[in-house]
Amino acid sequence: MGTFYEKAIRPILFTQDAEDAHRHTAFMLSVLSRASIVCSLLEKFSTPARTKPVELFGLRFPTAVGMAAGMDKNAEFWRAAPAFGFGHVEIGTVTAHKQPGNPQPRIFRYPPQEAIINRMGFNNNGCEAIAAALRKSGAHKKRPIPLGINIGKSRITPLDQAVEDYLASFHALADYADYLTVNVSSPNTPDLRKLQGDAYLPELLGALKEASVKRAKKLGTKPLPLLLKIAPDLGFQEIDAILGHIYDLQFDGIIATNTTLARPGALSSANEAGGLSGKPLFSRSLEIVNYISRATDGKLPIIGVGGIMQPDCATRMMDAGASLVQVYTGWIYRGPFFPAQVAAALAPRQREWI
Ligand SMILES: Cc1cc2nc3c(=O)[nH]c(=O)nc-3n(C[C@H](O)[C@H](O)[C@H](O)COP(=O)(O)O)c2cc1C
Repeated sequence: MGTFYEKAIRPILFTQDAEDAHRHTAFMLSVLSRASIVCSLLEKFSTPARTKPVELFGLRFPTAVGMAAGMDKNAEFWRAAPAFGFGHVEIGTVTAHKQPGNPQPRIFRYPPQEAIINRMGFNNNGCEAIAAALRKSGAHKKRPIPLGINIGKSRITPLDQAVEDYLASFHALADYADYLTVNVSSPNTPDLRKLQGDAYLPELLGALKEASVKRAKKLGTKPLPLLLKIAPDLGFQEIDAILGHIYDLQFDGIIATNTTLARPGALSSANEAGGLSGKPLFSRSLEIVNYISRATDGKLPIIGVGGIMQPDCATRMMDAGASLVQVYTGWIYRGPFFPAQVAAALAPRQREWI
């Protein structure tokens, strides 16, 4: 299937501007997401039989592979995700304020390197509109697979008001989420990555944790699992400091990694600004997952993401200590059923990674 896609469909898709191709695909997926019978049939085909679901954060993930943030920014087609083998989906990044993102073009493909550079800049409809879209699609009642919501800072909000900005998104969206990801690692919002540092991170994570605990007390439920998504460009000392804050503030897990500012190998001459994803990112994201797993004695749940372009890469991420993986660029290069192939590759060894 992957080969047919790569030989016959991808060349046609890749003749279109990358963002146009994304828009057309998103439209088809949003139509599919409303055809629940077709989705269920596809899901049966895509989910490996007898796979052991992953139990994490008190949630049940039918497969270990999820749709990474940035694909469904406005919660338009998340319901179609299980049809392709995804066992969870992370929508967003959502910001408190609706924003257009950077001027187009802002997604660039590098087929020989199986890579993408993007500088989207958190284009999204804003937390209130996305909450309404989620409600309309029934996310407050039933979610077929765990739904993560990734939140980030609005571009117009200064760094010293970031906490209120994230809290606004938290309050608007918490009712629709199975877990929430705090994104401080996109390279395309000026200064956002500074929130990863000691000057801002403890206050931000602390405020969100407090909001989550308060909400849970009020509702008489368990607090919403909170995850932090980090950049691959951090040094190990910086990662150690972040792990300290995660531990102190009892965050539930970490997503490693976002896109990189590095331009390894042949991409050293690529002069588009933005974050690089895909194959050239894999060795660094794997190294970080491995580092975090060792530093935390395997006790902190890790979602491994970055350059998973073959099922084998996902296996290596899990061996390095990830509990789940996510894909973005691999879905574009390998085709719609790539997540199903990853899920099938992971299924037989699922018990080893618990
Ligand atoms: C076009 C594009 C848009 C993205 N948008 C977001 C985003 O809004 N929020 C986020 O946390 N990550 C975003 N990402 C990063 C992915 O979620 C993922 O962390 C990264 O691409 C590495 O995984 P991959 O190599 O499988 O693509 C985006 C990636 C791409 C290619």
